[in-house]
Amino acid sequence: MTKRYDSIRPIRWENDQLVLIDQRVLPQKEVLLRYDDVASVAQAITDMVVRGAPAIGITAAYGIVLAARNHYAKSADNWKTNITTDLDLLAAARPTAVNLFWAIKHMSSMFKDIVGDPEEVLLEAAHAILQEDIEANYEMGKLGASLLVGKNKVITHCNAGALATGGYGTALGVIRSAYEQGKISQVYADETRPWMQGVRLTAWELQKEGIPVTLMAEGAAAMLMRAEKPDWVIVGSDRIAANGDVANKIGTYSLAVNAKQHGVKFMVAAPTTTIDMDTACGEDIPIEFRSESELLMVAGQNMAPAEIDAWNPVFDVTPAELVDVIVTQKGLIYEPDSLKISNLLST
Ligand code: MRU
Repeated sequence: MTKRYDSIRPIRWENDQLVLIDQRVLPQKEVLLRYDDVASVAQAITDMVVRGAPAIGITAAYGIVLAARNHYAKSADNWKTNITTDLDLLAAARPTAVNLFWAIKHMSSMFKDIVGDPEEVLLEAAHAILQEDIEANYEMGKLGASLLVGKNKVITHCNAGALATGGYGTALGVIRSAYEQGKISQVYADETRPWMQGVRLTAWELQKEGIPVTLMAEGAAAMLMRAEKPDWVIVGSDRIAANGDVANKIGTYSLAVNAKQHGVKFMVAAPTTTIDMDTACGEDIPIEFRSESELLMVAGQNMAPAEIDAWNPVFDVTPAELVDVIVTQKGLIYEPDSLKISNLLST
């Protein structure tokens, strides 16, 4: 059952194929791409046809279904051995979002009990990951919205919406739910350089749902905080370390520093699959660096002089002390630290 403001599903399984909305071409074109082999799925993750931590994990789960099907068809006796290179291929697709590694581990833990054709069992597991992600988002939406009092102006960064998840979104799930309750007067979306997730994806997604959104340049955030006094920054995460440090799209750390300076509350919404208890602190989170061309070119046009170097980390780490609250589907963690996180996970 879907909710209000819940019309977008970026990942589907149709006619025995994985179907993804191509996020590289939104909002100009709404294109669906179909996949029936795992190498193309891994490439789709690397190329950001699909992006956003939970969406990457869900996509990898379906990629494993395709890999198992194809290996089983070639050699029914050896599929469990032959699939390991595909698992490595998926794991190499992007480094920062821990949901990718969680999904690979979860799916491959099922192999040992499978006798015969693996497709049905693995497909059911992938569907469950997708469905549980949407349900976690509904729960986070409810919990996160309960923290907003009165009418709120909120800032969000990147796209932590339906497009970044199975549906509904983490940060945008909170915003959807709060908007439905009449608690949002204004959503400001950061453009999110260099890939423009805010301009292209968050703007498309909220407009499609009929939720008003105003775009701003990332450099405008501090000015906005001073001039408009927003109540909350609400973002998602790609990996939360055991001590509560939060990796998210590059620019999140600057927002958190600015939020602290201006007395704006800072909320991170993420499912428990984003918490990585094997990573002690933010410094240990692998940060993805992408091609210089993402910075040097805009819409296929060179913007910089020839032979200029560019530094393009696409995630940063916000220290736990700058986070007011982490919202998970299992509950809220105020002023996160190791103890509070491990307590929540053990409930
Ligand atoms: O590079 P992207 O677009 O995959 O980065 C996505 C983000 O940083 C999101 O904020 C994060 O994955 C949370 S999505 C619910």
